[in-house]
Amino acid sequence: MKHFLNTQDLSRDELDALLAQAAAFKRTPMGDDLKGRSIALLFFNPSLRTRSSFELGAFHLGGHAIVLQPGKDAWPIEFDYGTVMDGEAEEHIAEVAQVLGRYVDLIGVRAFPKFVDWAVDREDRVLKGFAKYSPVPVINMETITHPCQELAHALALQERFGTTDLRGKKYVLTWTYHPKPLNTAVANSALTIATRLGMDVTLLCPTPEYLLDERYMGWAEQNVAESGGSFTVSHDIESAYSGADVVYAKSWGALPYFGNWGPEKPIRDRYKHFMVDEAKMAQTNNGAFSHCLPLRRNIKATDAVMDSPNCIAIDEAENRLHVQKAIMASLIKQ
Ligand code: CP
Repeated sequence: MKHFLNTQDLSRDELDALLAQAAAFKRTPMGDDLKGRSIALLFFNPSLRTRSSFELGAFHLGGHAIVLQPGKDAWPIEFDYGTVMDGEAEEHIAEVAQVLGRYVDLIGVRAFPKFVDWAVDREDRVLKGFAKYSPVPVINMETITHPCQELAHALALQERFGTTDLRGKKYVLTWTYHPKPLNTAVANSALTIATRLGMDVTLLCPTPEYLLDERYMGWAEQNVAESGGSFTVSHDIESAYSGADVVYAKSWGALPYFGNWGPEKPIRDRYKHFMVDEAKMAQTNNGAFSHCLPLRRNIKATDAVMDSPNCIAIDEAENRLHVQKAIMASLIKQ
């Protein structure tokens, strides 16, 4: 793989190899895969887990990480080609990516949507700009998908069920309430990886307005056709939770209201009861619960759900470290 932008770009063998390598790094954390090598981590948005785990992962493998925040401690960057740069941006992605490529061996990028126009944000132009101009491999650290989180989630499920074969597990991706409209990245990713791994996947959301972008709905359909799993949409909490082996929660803003969030707020506020609680989890098949974190307790999930032995969110967060070491080691070897 030239870059690590989306798991959908990887073959099933490549995906399985990354997960196996991540499990190996979990057993044996130190190595010299990045000895004398370096990675630039560009954060256009805040992070706790991604920044910590990438920096430490590079250190564990003998490498060095540089963290940059464009617009804060690095110059603001222009991504459009042919534009007259008379605005905020001081330099163009063409120079930024090429210059960094002369210094480092890998580039990680976190760039959330601007939340103004989904037609623009869905083009993922920051990540694509780096991938286009960078002479070294680029890693998606969350843009409109979050593939590192996908691998950490998949590894946590494999550990939970004691098998790398997750086919046939009943998997519920449930929308949860949050006071603000959030990025669809993790929901897009959860749908992608769960269908890829052959699970029986239900997307549970309040109304059809909360369906995900057609690209990811399409990937889900394509994946279950290939993996033998299934994919259904539900707006009914009780039937979706019934017998579930996995409940994965995430909040996101409804795409039809993208950039015009005022009318979406009263709709979202009507569905606060989508919060994951003990009563809902009691309907599952002793199901595992997870979330990518950060999570607002007693808004998205109750204290009891988060503190339950069935909650694997901390394992998933730990796995970010292991899977990202596998990604960096794999990219640097090629
Ligand atoms: N899950 C995740 O990416 O966490 P951060 O936003 O803290 O990096």
